[in-house]
Amino acid sequence: MLTSARNEMLTRVGPGTPMGELLRRYWQPIAGASDLETNPIKDIRLLGENLVLYRDRGGHYGLIDRHCPHRRADMLYGWVEENGIRCSYHGWLMDETGRCLEQPYEDTTNPKPSKTGCEIKAYPVKECAGLLFAYMGPLPAPELPVWEPFTWDNGFREVVLADIPCNWFQCQENSIDPVHFEWMHDNWGARLRGGDKNAAPKHLKLKFEPFDYGFTYKRVREGQSEEDRYWTVGRVALWPNGFYLGSHFEWRVPIDDENTLSVAWFFVRVPKGREPYVQKRVPTWRSPIRGDDGRWITSHVINQDIVAWVGQGRIADRTKEHLRSSDIGVTLMRNRFFEEIEAMAAGKEPGGIIRSANEAQCITLPNMARELNTEGIPLADFQKDPILRQRLKEFRHHFGQPAEVRREFAEAMGI
Ligand code: FES
Ligand SMILES: [Fe+2]
Repeated sequence: MLTSARNEMLTRVGPGTPMGELLRRYWQPIAGASDLETNPIKDIRLLGENLVLYRDRGGHYGLIDRHCPHRRADMLYGWVEENGIRCSYHGWLMDETGRCLEQPYEDTTNPKPSKTGCEIKAYPVKECAGLLFAYMGPLPAPELPVWEPFTWDNGFREVVLADIPCNWFQCQENSIDPVHFEWMHDNWGARLRGGDKNAAPKHLKLKFEPFDYGFTYKRVREGQSEEDRYWTVGRVALWPNGFYLGSHFEWRVPIDDENTLSVAWFFVRVPKGREPYVQKRVPTWRSPIRGDDGRWITSHVINQDIVAWVGQGRIADRTKEHLRSSDIGVTLMRNRFFEEIEAMAAGKEPGGIIRSANEAQCITLPNMARELNTEGIPLADFQKDPILRQRLKEFRHHFGQPAEVRREFAEAMGI
């Protein structure tokens, strides 16, 4: 249980809030690069700020204020040029650093006018592994962490986005909550498929361990032992707002206090013998979370998680909860946020921020499935791995994978 003041501290993300300032110190995934292919300008709300994301004709990515610095017209209705984005109202041209490059009427009538003070708010954007990351904190920006899976080759990658109408923190608490697998995905999943027993192997033992980039959580369930990789390696609640499960990442990116952008990145290595495989383009698609009947979609794994997140309310009321030993990870994570917020207020750099380009270029994380992804296995062996076996049949993580993405995946796998 938390006081409402502590709950506010964890959940408020607008400019100037303690958590908002902390999250702004980290590069956040905000879109798939392929998102900007058909329309190079996209409106996006992040951490309570209305912004426009674009790719200009010269290939520069920009993330700028939604409103033009001249008289506040909507930059979403501007257009991109070789270098920057132009407002459609009076033609001011801005680049990705926020500089105002042109003010056509002034430039014609009063050559070389000073444009100082006419900058647009702008945040750096970088592309990596088909994802676009933004940094909204004080400059200089830290290095963008290139997690090891982003460096893997011979794999099929896809980016899946979903708009979640609730606060980010309850989504992130799900990243350090092993017991929900047994109930939400196994037992409830079985019920949704017509079963009538709580037959999932029970959790017998949990362990949560902090490290530089978050926490690992480890578990032993019935039928497993401490030799199992679920105990020896575990999974990662990635600091500050991610989840890493060996072959895929999920991030819970705050749109504002009451909305979250779920960003997930998936990798499947092609079967042995199908290398070299070079993916020309990483597809990005948006997963619907509500069905035509108005109810949340429950058929897919992350959709089930979403039912839990939104079910806790727009902002979960943590003054009313009853934490038990299954929630030790949740408490550890909350406390680490409180400590980091305090440290940042005292002028310290928050944890997990990388300033060395060398260190940032390939960061390994605990991974139960590394060899599957780096060495590869023959197609016949996909059947022996429960996750890959399922993956060949259908995309079980998010509802609504477009047919063309499925087709590209099947071609890559040779199925
Ligand atoms: S409002 Fe954008 S150029 Fe005038
Ligand atoms: Fe889950």
